[in-house]
Amino acid sequence: RGLRKYVDPLPRLPVAVPDTSGHPDRDSYVLTMRERPWRFHADLATTVAWGYWVSDPSGRGRPAGLGCLGPVLVARRGRPSIVRYRNELPTRHLLHRSIDQSLWRQLPGVPADPPGGRHMGMPSDLTVWNVVHLHGGWSPPQSDGNPAAWFTPKGRHGPLYKTLPGAAPNEAIYAYGNRQRATMLWYHDHAMDLTRLNNYAGLSGLYVIRDDAEEALGLPRGRFEVHLVLQDRTFNPDGSLSYPVKGVNAYHPIWSPECFGDTPVVNGKAYPFLAVEPRRYRLRVLNGSNSRFYHLWLGDERTRLPFWLIGIGGGLRGDALRTTTLLMAPADRVDIVVDFSAVPRGGTVTLMNDAPAPFPAGGGGPAIPQIMQFRVTEPLSRRDPTTPPERLNLPPLERLRPDSATYWRERVLTETTDRHDNPVHLQINGRFFFEPVDDFVRADSTEVWEYINTTGDAHPMHVHLVQFQIHNRQKFEADRYRADYGRWLAAGRPTDRKPQLARYLVGPPVPPEPEQQGWRDSFIAYPGMVNRIIARYTMAPPVPGIDGTGTTFPADYIHHCHILEHEDNDMMRPWQLIR
Ligand code: C2O
Ligand code: CU
Repeated sequence: RGLRKYVDPLPRLPVAVPDTSGHPDRDSYVLTMRERPWRFHADLATTVAWGYWVSDPSGRGRPAGLGCLGPVLVARRGRPSIVRYRNELPTRHLLHRSIDQSLWRQLPGVPADPPGGRHMGMPSDLTVWNVVHLHGGWSPPQSDGNPAAWFTPKGRHGPLYKTLPGAAPNEAIYAYGNRQRATMLWYHDHAMDLTRLNNYAGLSGLYVIRDDAEEALGLPRGRFEVHLVLQDRTFNPDGSLSYPVKGVNAYHPIWSPECFGDTPVVNGKAYPFLAVEPRRYRLRVLNGSNSRFYHLWLGDERTRLPFWLIGIGGGLRGDALRTTTLLMAPADRVDIVVDFSAVPRGGTVTLMNDAPAPFPAGGGGPAIPQIMQFRVTEPLSRRDPTTPPERLNLPPLERLRPDSATYWRERVLTETTDRHDNPVHLQINGRFFFEPVDDFVRADSTEVWEYINTTGDAHPMHVHLVQFQIHNRQKFEADRYRADYGRWLAAGRPTDRKPQLARYLVGPPVPPEPEQQGWRDSFIAYPGMVNRIIARYTMAPPVPGIDGTGTTFPADYIHHCHILEHEDNDMMRPWQLIR
């Protein structure tokens, strides 16, 4: 079975129109989560999916949306946005057969419930709960979308639910100051233990921040700036979404440690095509997949069209990097310029991928060698006025220096397994998500976080609140460390017997690849490596003119693996910003 390739045109994601009527100094939106009809491919029947729909600002028109994903929110640097997220999903989950209550119920061999339940009072009579996180946003804690801040269509609330004043019970109102570099962020569902399913059902969307400096560069804009959300999905014969329903062991009868779809879906369509003019385009790409990494190029099996990488998740790079391939982990964004005038008229260019699944070991999922096609079939509407990438005047990149760090923090990534070597828990520092906070970061300090990966796979680690830089990575004796660390945990973490990381390091640290350098909010923690990042932890300022956005310390944030199946099974920990 295979779907025909390149028969559906690429959907352009709708851009949300803000309401500025009551408050001209801010952009207000109502984004409603709904289940609506959507067709993923011309050969598949119409099914339903989940998405965010934006209300018409006049209040008279119909909400705008695609049927899956959400509209692009475009913000201006320094100008606040306020979003009323409304939950009008059905009360039965679209993928309810994939819900695994073992993720929050008492498990064999796991310490007894803390008061309030293993996962802080998670419901057992519900299958739908939601919360929205602006990924990469410098957001105040009450607008960050903590996994336990969920709210349901019927107005029930998670233990850490927060909203700005004026929300109905099935809503949460968040404010974003947009006081960060121009870039492309994304918003997506982050509900505890349902993140993988809510995102797979369609709950994610793009969020672009623009500023004057970026607009002065002469980059392609308008219809020559194309947003691409890359995802992988598997479909049932009736055209509906298929997500695994069988787990790997008795601990988790349903939860699957990864989800790799067999079909690429871009902006909600399988194997789409885009007709382009022979000129430069700016492609802004998100890897919105649950587990899949992509190693991308443009061309075909034999040829590779060069392109220029001008930015990543946290904004523009210091220079345009000419390259032919890119590695994208889940949650990564890239900002690239492609010149289709280099392609013979009428020619095609395919977006290709050869990343193993799981990454980097492979052997666990279907390959997706082709993703979408660009056809250079449109006549040139006018001379290309954009700046050639090698002449772009990109602002220099400020480098964070490790000697400015006041603290180095170890983050040990572990995987516990059953007798058959199948995963039971994925953890950070041997803790479950619900256990009390043990990381207190002082506001305005610079820290190096060391992700010590003792597992066999790469984990794309994401930290809320900050944009960071990769410092370096260094090999270590993972087997010996894992054994010693496990013994230390079992002994009750005696302070004086903690394994000293320095004794396990092997060889010199290596800097990140050039294309991984720059401001970012997630990065690849490679197996068998100590992966170091550096960030300045500055509190998000109150959003001007919006009540309830002031900061109270301690402020709750989290960090986690962005393989959604992993974060749903505890590869996620809270941390607090303190004064
Ligand atoms: Cu994109 Cu905490 O997530
Ligand atoms: Cu992971």
